[in-house]
Amino acid sequence: MAKDHIDPVEALRQNTAQPFEQARAMPPEVYTSQEFLDQELAHIFAKDWFCVGRADALAEPGSYTTCDLAGQPILVMRDRDGELRGLSNVCLHRMSTLLHGRGKTRAIVCPYHAWTYNLDGSLRGAPAMTLNEGFCKDQYQLPKVRCEEWLGWVFVTLNQDASPVAEQLSQVAEMVAGYDMTNYTEAFYEEHVWDTNWKVLAENFMESYHLPVCHAGTIGGLSKLEDMVCPPGLPAFNYHTILKEESLKIAMAHEKNTRLKGDERRTTYLLALYPSLLITLTPGYFWYLSLHPNGPGQVHIRFGGGMSNDFADDPEVEQNFQDLKALLDDVNIEDRGCTEKVFRGLSSGMAEPGHLSHLERPNYDFAQYLMAKIVEGQEAEAQKA
Ligand code: FES
Ligand SMILES: [Fe+2]
Repeated sequence: MAKDHIDPVEALRQNTAQPFEQARAMPPEVYTSQEFLDQELAHIFAKDWFCVGRADALAEPGSYTTCDLAGQPILVMRDRDGELRGLSNVCLHRMSTLLHGRGKTRAIVCPYHAWTYNLDGSLRGAPAMTLNEGFCKDQYQLPKVRCEEWLGWVFVTLNQDASPVAEQLSQVAEMVAGYDMTNYTEAFYEEHVWDTNWKVLAENFMESYHLPVCHAGTIGGLSKLEDMVCPPGLPAFNYHTILKEESLKIAMAHEKNTRLKGDERRTTYLLALYPSLLITLTPGYFWYLSLHPNGPGQVHIRFGGGMSNDFADDPEVEQNFQDLKALLDDVNIEDRGCTEKVFRGLSSGMAEPGHLSHLERPNYDFAQYLMAKIVEGQEAEAQKA
């Protein structure tokens, strides 16, 4: 059953005009239409900060990671002076992409004809170019991309006017100061592609309402709806918290951590830093997802995590963390099942958004954020025109 064309931005405008007490899930077109995705790419991913991972994973000179941000291939490189640099990942010869995935290198060598760049993006050399009279290697420099580090996270943006990450997220820093996010080391990192819209996965992370059911086979039994707290969000992020059972030792604050008091020592924060960095932060370990759309029906996932450095000298922890990673993998399989089912469902003709639980407060705030960004972007475009 094909629906008549509905303007997805207009549908979201009507949806987000409701107060939280009467809110419904976002309309299906917001997830399924290329038209809406184009708006997101232009007004959100091309404008906001995007997280490419953890700074400690890029510690050595020559360590790099790559991403595609709103259609622009970007590389982030630790240069010889220890600075992180964002650079265009497009060769200045016949425009191949240069580096792929994550790794470590002494120079950036194009895989097509071996034009070779220094870690700062200047051209070091190019084979068989001496007979072209116009060619001068000193005139070639990979364009720079803004890159910032914040509490151990590495972000890039294509927007010269974006305010600094630390400014946008200062309230997050205050709220979780006792966890000291800088003091965690990444132990695993993977990239995945799932067949669902990026927002379905982001929203799945934002609510723990699904834990007892979707995760019945793993962590569901440990998750009590009454232990979940979902306060209203703020302009740049939303969050909720869960109290963890004392039995999961690596989720508790280590005795070296004297900053966290009382129940905070077993509190897990689920932070959704807009648009798409999702962090599960426990006093002992953390894991994260950084999402980018790959078309309306696919999401590219950067998935990493590790332990607080407070546990570094604890001999049992390595095994405990490996057990946790195995559990996370099982939990992820369940989330994949649920989020791919949601995408199939909302792509169907009879899909209609139902009311939200009070435990889906962050989802409501996320919808408000999306609408605000698109309106802001459209107004800026209209002013230019
Ligand atoms: S495209 Fe990079 S060297 Fe030719
Ligand atoms: Fe889940």
